[in-house]
Amino acid sequence: MAADWIVETRRLTRVYGDGESIRALDGIDLTVAAGELVAIMGPSGSGKSTLLNILGALDKPTSGEVWVDGCDLVNLKDQDGFRSKSVGFIFQLHNLLPTLTALENVEVPMMGHFNAADKKRRAEYLLSLVGLQDRRHHLPSQLSGGQRQRVAIARALANNPRLVLADEPTGALDTASGEELMRLIRDLNQTQGTTFLVVTHDALVARQTKRIVMMRDGKIEREDIVGSPLEEDLKLWQYSVLGQGILSGSEDVMRMFSLSEREQKVLKTFLRKGMPSVSTYSAKGS
Ligand SMILES: Nc1ncnc2c1ncn2[C@@H]1O[C@H](COP(=O)(O)OP(=O)(O)OP(=O)(O)O)[C@@H](O)[C@H]1O
Ligand SMILES: [Mg+2]
Repeated sequence: MAADWIVETRRLTRVYGDGESIRALDGIDLTVAAGELVAIMGPSGSGKSTLLNILGALDKPTSGEVWVDGCDLVNLKDQDGFRSKSVGFIFQLHNLLPTLTALENVEVPMMGHFNAADKKRRAEYLLSLVGLQDRRHHLPSQLSGGQRQRVAIARALANNPRLVLADEPTGALDTASGEELMRLIRDLNQTQGTTFLVVTHDALVARQTKRIVMMRDGKIEREDIVGSPLEEDLKLWQYSVLGQGILSGSEDVMRMFSLSEREQKVLKTFLRKGMPSVSTYSAKGS
């Protein structure tokens, strides 16, 4: 295994059941470098959670190889040790313990790793990182959904893991809180150097990462490097009805948007080539 990969899988396969078996993961080759921020997208049932569960040693592959943080997870003996040291989890429904305060929830994974005083100090520090120092004595029921997710992030960072696995952390949040949460994850990725793998259905969430892995039917369908906001808007536009209509020269779309032939041509070039045509368009377009 190359030293700078924090995640490396080879032909990773997970089959459920016998008889009519389901290939939840079907030969996944994935490498993630330490310090990356990666989104995993794909339709429901495409294998995203299965992949995360295996990377977090919550499940074992049927075949193939998987290394995380230098550990061979296929032959790993001490699952608990690995989980408490190397990875942090954030789930869609935060699953904080309802009778414990925010501070106590963050302290839970530190049991056996820090003494009482250090535990408290570290939990306070982590809550301040996620902007919740003034809510540390609140119970989960006294926090908003976004605040609970931030506590879950602080808890995931408790033992300073190199890898955090987040399965739809913004799934239960409104768009604004979801974007705020992703900004926090991005900040933590940059300032703490923690590697994040974030499963999401939301393209706006995904584009706040650096790289998007698209899954389908247990396979990696494609990977995208996330560009500048302008490039990303362009990509969204390319896949929209309007963008597709312009690219295919649909007469209906031309009529609907009253586009002249020249405008259509300029827009087509812009959509095909992306960035370089932007200046051409704004300088010459009407
Ligand atoms: N414990 C299980 N037993 C049998 N089949 C399972 C099990 N867990 C998942 N599957 C199947 O494996 C496939 C992948 O499931 P997975 O949960 O990884 O999908 P997902 O991409 O996370 O979907 P979603 O976006 O809905 O969360 C699905 O067809 C699912 O039905
Ligand atoms: Mg899932």
